[in-house]
Amino acid sequence: MCGIVGIIGQAPVSERLLEALKRLEYRGYDSAGIATVGGDGALTRRRAEGKLGNLSARLEAEPLAGNIGIGHTRWATHGGPTETNAHPHMTSRVAVVQNGIIENFKALREELAADGYEPQSETDTEVVPLLVTRELARGATPQKAVETVLAKLNGAFALALIFSGEQSLMIAACRGAPIAVGHGDTETYLGSDAMALAPFTNRVTFLEDGDWAVLEGSKISLFDRANQPVKRAVITTQASGLLADKGNHRHFMLKEIHEQPETVGHTLAHYVDLASETVRLRETLPIDFADMPRLTISACGTAYYAGLVAKYWFERYARLPVDVDVASEFRYREPPMEKGGMALFISQSGETADTLAALRYCAGAGQHIASLLNVTESTIGRESDVVFPTLCGAEIGVASTKAFTSQLTALAALAVAAGKARGTISAGEEAELVRALAGLPGLMHDALRAEKQTEDIARQMARASDVLYLGRGQMFPLALEGALKLKEISYIHAEGYAAGELKHGPIALIEEDLPVIVVAPSDDLMEKTLSNMQEVAARGGSIVLITDEEGANQAGDSAAEVITVPTVHNMLAPIVCALPVQLLAYHTAVHMGTDVDQPRNLAKSVTVE
Ligand code: F6R
Repeated sequence: MCGIVGIIGQAPVSERLLEALKRLEYRGYDSAGIATVGGDGALTRRRAEGKLGNLSARLEAEPLAGNIGIGHTRWATHGGPTETNAHPHMTSRVAVVQNGIIENFKALREELAADGYEPQSETDTEVVPLLVTRELARGATPQKAVETVLAKLNGAFALALIFSGEQSLMIAACRGAPIAVGHGDTETYLGSDAMALAPFTNRVTFLEDGDWAVLEGSKISLFDRANQPVKRAVITTQASGLLADKGNHRHFMLKEIHEQPETVGHTLAHYVDLASETVRLRETLPIDFADMPRLTISACGTAYYAGLVAKYWFERYARLPVDVDVASEFRYREPPMEKGGMALFISQSGETADTLAALRYCAGAGQHIASLLNVTESTIGRESDVVFPTLCGAEIGVASTKAFTSQLTALAALAVAAGKARGTISAGEEAELVRALAGLPGLMHDALRAEKQTEDIARQMARASDVLYLGRGQMFPLALEGALKLKEISYIHAEGYAAGELKHGPIALIEEDLPVIVVAPSDDLMEKTLSNMQEVAARGGSIVLITDEEGANQAGDSAAEVITVPTVHNMLAPIVCALPVQLLAYHTAVHMGTDVDQPRNLAKSVTVE
């Protein structure tokens, strides 16, 4: 998703803006640009299609002077990913970068056209510099011009603006998309997240929804939606100043897959006490699990699949009824909600627009708001009554891997805590489950030994045009996750199905050599899944079975390939089985030669609906 950076500096800024944009690359983008106010007071910009390397080359050929500037990585929404549509958008008076969508841009364009202001691009954003320019031409100060224009804009967005003739003035606004002000000793910064600001400062103020900021050198004035002066806290962020690097790995995704024994270990250390073999929640729930009539989970994509697995856990182990929805559907369904329930939002970024909107709906419907987040200093985090962290470190690969397994680990601990509170899990069972959780990092490490085998299987999968994934019970969401992972990074069409649904339609798709990935560790459902495998094999499908040793013995020779993962407590099998599922997608994508870490059309942090 689009990224914004800004610097009011004491020295030339264009190189540092480019560096800061590199730290936002993980969000996904398809063009980029920078604008500065030079020593002569004039605004100048450089923009380029594609990756930041193109912008860097452009800047090398035609450097940008100036101690104040804004930069942007654009993920196209309105208008293709061309240089003309790239930000900053500007007139001779003002340059603007935007993250989000200005929903009423068409009406505003018509209004501007009537006054002779014509856009050069197809973007929604360009109405902002044109509107501000019209206000400036009418004699407004930059601050008054922005105040007037903000009142005209509908949508969810963040903005940063600089002005010709103004060597130390920058204005920013937060309307539903995140933006943070960074406080330096003599400089001031802006960024879409704390990661972008980390090399400059760890003292950060997150603007709240509706806020806007006037930055004049290091003087910072904040206003709320009603244009009243407000104060917001300066926090010390934990975001690392080190530019994330791939280490010895070819891609961030592969590095993140391999980090999982460690990241799950980190997550576990937060949620369980190994000495007493108990789950220990450091966060105080807004309502006790024992009194909770229902838990409503909303999330998107991979985080939604983590929520689906958790539904099986909360219902089975804690007898707590759970509704799970994709956030984009939930909010528009307008479900009735009994007051006093708890709603849980799962998100790696904490900025996903649909998840945030679902949160706000639930808050309005009298629910206690809990979230499970990797970026706890995010908008969702700030709007939650309680935040459970996943603690897996910055996830850079666009395809979520380590965040997923850390989400599952934290959710497993929460389900055990819920079971304990509701009297459905005894102290002995809790100890058994905590021991099983504690064993996860070691077993995940062993599961990664299947990598060579997944690489070989992936060579075959890379020739397929369709792949099916099947799973039953708590492995069904993993089938969905496997299909999503393969689609998003290899661009091969894939579908995940509940194994029992196969004969209700999808079986028609089975033909000679169609790869069918079955995720089925040995459990009380394995027998039934084996029957489904027979149905696939009888029709020529080529089965790759992901199972444990006992499952491999049970399956006999019905599978063309068996990937054997270590045996683990039944509840935790989705966490261990996630690793070969991720590796299969990763190696298939590598065989296909796609851009694994930044797949086409995708964004890491989806801040538009
Ligand atoms: C898939 C993936 C996405 C995200 C989804 C939610 O690999 O990464 O499906 O899971 O966009 O993002 P967050 O978790 O940031 O809310």
